[in-house]
Amino acid sequence: MTVLWLLIISYLLGSIPTALIVGKLGYGVDIRTVGSGNLGGTNTFRSLGLTAGLIVTVIDVLKGTAAAALPYTMNVDLHPMLAGLPAVIGHCFPIFAGFRGGKAVATSAGVLLLVSPLCFAIAAVGFFSTLYLSKYVSLASILAVIFAHTYAIFFGDKILSIVTFALVVFILWLHRANIERIVNGSERKITWM
Ligand code: G3P
Repeated sequence: MTVLWLLIISYLLGSIPTALIVGKLGYGVDIRTVGSGNLGGTNTFRSLGLTAGLIVTVIDVLKGTAAAALPYTMNVDLHPMLAGLPAVIGHCFPIFAGFRGGKAVATSAGVLLLVSPLCFAIAAVGFFSTLYLSKYVSLASILAVIFAHTYAIFFGDKILSIVTFALVVFILWLHRANIERIVNGSERKITWM
């Protein structure tokens, strides 16, 4: 029963639509109606600038970290990676925003940060080197989770390997429109790096 409560709390935490709240309260803008329409840090950077993008990204990462920490705060015997997973799903399909949210990257990063800081660091290296070379945030996000899974295969436990594999599949699926745009050359590139 406590495990079920933990999973529900994790999902609700992930469901907090940070980009929507920051956009509406801080700027009077519904992020879903601008840029890619995605409720995430990238679209907030793109549509509302650096400060708003940073705030949204940091909070979205922390949602994952807080969810992964629930087994410790609630004293429940559950792998923190499994505790963080519902938060990732909540971030993408938020009950508080019509089940239309982000693309899993920041919240997954937050979960990894707590579960395996080294895995997080490897993913960050994958993210920033791809971003530097390609200027595509979406491609950098996909490569980051592939880096995380590769690390997990060699150095992680079974749960980290399985869940990061599930995240690779999930993140590829969430980025299917981005992949299509990269292939046909219409994906937006960042201009500041
Ligand atoms: O993390 C989301 C990013 O990879 C893509 O965002 O807004 O360009 O679809 P967006």
